[in-house]
Amino acid sequence: MNYIGSKLSLLKFLEESINKVVDPEKNRADRNCDIFCDLFAGTGIVGSYFKKKGYKIIANDIQYYSYVLNRHYIGNHKELYFAKLTKEIPDLINIGVKNRKKFVCDYLSNLRGVKGFIYKNYCLSGTKDEEEQRQYFSDENGMRCDAIRQKIENWKEQNLISDDEYYFLITSLVESIDKYANTASVYGAFLKKLKKTAQNNLILKPAELIINDREHSVFNEDINDIVGKIKSDILYLDPPYNHRQYATNYHLLETIAKYDNPKIYGKTGLREYQNQKSLYCSRTHIKKVFKDLILKAKTKYIFLSYSNEGLMTLKDIREIMALKGRYGYFTKKYNRFMADKPENRYYKAKKTIEYLHYVVCKNT
Ligand SMILES: C[S@@+](CC[C@H](N)C(=O)[O-])C[C@H]1O[C@@H](n2cnc3c(N)ncnc32)[C@H](O)[C@@H]1O
Repeated sequence: MNYIGSKLSLLKFLEESINKVVDPEKNRADRNCDIFCDLFAGTGIVGSYFKKKGYKIIANDIQYYSYVLNRHYIGNHKELYFAKLTKEIPDLINIGVKNRKKFVCDYLSNLRGVKGFIYKNYCLSGTKDEEEQRQYFSDENGMRCDAIRQKIENWKEQNLISDDEYYFLITSLVESIDKYANTASVYGAFLKKLKKTAQNNLILKPAELIINDREHSVFNEDINDIVGKIKSDILYLDPPYNHRQYATNYHLLETIAKYDNPKIYGKTGLREYQNQKSLYCSRTHIKKVFKDLILKAKTKYIFLSYSNEGLMTLKDIREIMALKGRYGYFTKKYNRFMADKPENRYYKAKKTIEYLHYVVCKNT
C-alpha cells in the first residue's frame, strides 16, 4: 500500500544498520536477540520483513485498519484451510489447500454489489441527494466493497471462518480497495473526476501469507499505554514525522475495516477520531510523549526512524535517547512521499534525509 512514511524502500538500510549495532561479530542465529517489536507498525511491512528473517514479532498500531493488516501479515503464520466454509462453497473441497485463499477471494469478487454504507456515503450516486456529494469510489466499486465486506462479516457471525481467515480476508479487501480509490493518494480528499484506475472493477487480490513456525503478537493500542508492558530485544519505532494525522488521511480504510456504520461529517465524510489523535503529530506534545516512551521501554536496543524535516530536532532526539544508553545514528537520502499536487506541497525538496537513530540500552 502507498502509505505515508512507509519503509518499504528502506528495509535493506534498516536491516544493515541494525546488524551493525546488534552484536555485529555474531551471526543472526547466535545472537541473543530474538524479539523484534514494531509498535508504530502501519502497513506491517517492517515486521513482515523481520518475521521472514526468523524474528518473533510484536506489532502494534493505534489505527484499526493497521491492526487488521498486522494481525494478518504478522499474526497469521499457518496455512488457512477455510474448512468450515465448504458448507457455503462446496467446490472448495476440490481445491488444493494452497489455492483456497485465491478461490475464496475470487468468490467474493464475483458477488453482486449491494447498496451499503460505503456506496451510500462515499459514491456519487449514493450521495446524490445528500448535502455533500462524494466520489471516493465508482458506484460499482462502492457496491462491490459493501457486498464483500458484508459477506465476510456474515461468515464470521455464522462461524464459517476462523479469526485468522477473517483477518486475511479483511486485509485483502483493505489492500485491494485502496488501489481503486479515486484519490491523489490519501483519503483526506477525493478527485472530482473518476480517475482511470478508479474506473476498473474491484477484484479482491489475496494478501500474502507469511508462513513460519513462530507465534507473534499484535495489538491495537496507543504506544505509550503498551510499551511498558512489553519486553523485547529490538524495539523499532517509526512514529509520524509531522502534523498529518493518520486517522484523517486513512479514515475510509478505518471504516471499511471496522464496518461499524459510524456517524460521519463534512465534505470528506470523516469519522470521529478523538481517541486516535496522535500526540506524535503535535509540536506541543511530541517531546513529552517521546521521552515517556523511551523511558518506559524494556528492551536491549531502540531504533528510531525519523526524517530531518520532522517535528523533533536532531538535538531533541539525541538528548532523549541518550537518557537510555549509548546513542548513535545512520542516515540515508530518501525520496519524499508525494501525496498531492506539486503546487500544494508544503516542502519543496524532492529528497529528504532519513535518519535511523539508535541507543544501546544500559540496565535491561
Ligand atoms: C510512519 S507510520 C509507520 C509506517 C510503517 N513503518 C510502514 O512502513 O508501513 C506511523 C504509524 O504510527 C501510527 N501511530 C501514530 N501515533 C500512534 C500512537 N500514539 N500509538 C500507536 N501508533 C501510532 C500511525 O497510525 C501510523 O500507522
